[in-house]
Amino acid sequence: MQHQSHQAATGTILVADDQASNRELMQELLSRQGFKVVTAPDGASALEQLATTQVDLVLLDVMMPHITGFAVCQKIKSNPATDLVPVVLVTALSDKQDRLEGIKAGADDFLTRPVDRTELLARVRSLLKLKFRTDELERAESVLFSLARSIEGKDPYTSGHCERLAEFSVRLGERVGLSEEQITALRRAGVVHDIGKVAVPDAILLKPGRLTEEEWTVIRQHPVVGERICAPLKSFRLVLPIIRHHHEKYDGSGYPDGLRGDAIPVAARVLQIVDVFDALTTERPYKKAFSAADALQTVREEVAKGWWDPQIFGEFEQIVRNGTTDLVVRGRKLTKAARQP
Ligand SMILES: [Fe+2]
Repeated sequence: MQHQSHQAATGTILVADDQASNRELMQELLSRQGFKVVTAPDGASALEQLATTQVDLVLLDVMMPHITGFAVCQKIKSNPATDLVPVVLVTALSDKQDRLEGIKAGADDFLTRPVDRTELLARVRSLLKLKFRTDELERAESVLFSLARSIEGKDPYTSGHCERLAEFSVRLGERVGLSEEQITALRRAGVVHDIGKVAVPDAILLKPGRLTEEEWTVIRQHPVVGERICAPLKSFRLVLPIIRHHHEKYDGSGYPDGLRGDAIPVAARVLQIVDVFDALTTERPYKKAFSAADALQTVREEVAKGWWDPQIFGEFEQIVRNGTTDLVVRGRKLTKAARQP
């Protein structure tokens, strides 16, 4: 946020109130402190403002015609684009019922009318502080995502792999019954799981021929390096085990830790099946793209060898057979070839 202001007051605040006098009062008070203020006379225009302006905090009147403050709040909190924007509900009385409804709608704080100036500014400042900290985290996340995509971008053959992986592992994760937290972790891991490849030289990463044993040793480091890169981000706590263990095998023959069976985190077991399938159905320098049926057959053989979780593979097979994945679209004639894990 680079708004010109005195002291530390920065940020854009949306004031939504159907009473013009209330809006003006708040606007004056907050602008005088250096905040940028935008206003809305009703719920619909508040949501419009949120869609078009970068808002850092919302002061929302509860009693507005058409869409109430509660409903607006709920919409803000259920939209991934705005759910991290703090919402303060402004109510006429310290009505317990209103508070309960506000909490249910996801409000971050409450103010009662007549609004006390000092209290208003104190709450606004503390909520904005939190908001900016969250923004910083979000930025760190997007730096990681960009890095992951630029690594993927080096290899034209893996283009789009991260996004497909994120999307389909989420679908498989939901089918397997993972928690919402794990699903979020899977979505992130789909994008960043190979971020450790940043430490693998291009000569190895893009080598069309067979890899030597030393080259393999370098490749096998990428889950550990990836975990280290993402470790400082607290919000990636559940993503780390997926990154570290996405090359383990069910029979214990994988890397880096040689984990076996259920000791491999379930989200990693989900990701790896989708990862392998996607690699098979995509053209690579050393092989053509497999059809979905051929890819499934290959993965099935690998399950029989003891590499992947048979139960999760069963669920994945259902998804592919139901045609709920367009992974099948890119299928080409089967060409058996060695493929890089
Ligand atoms: Fe990998």
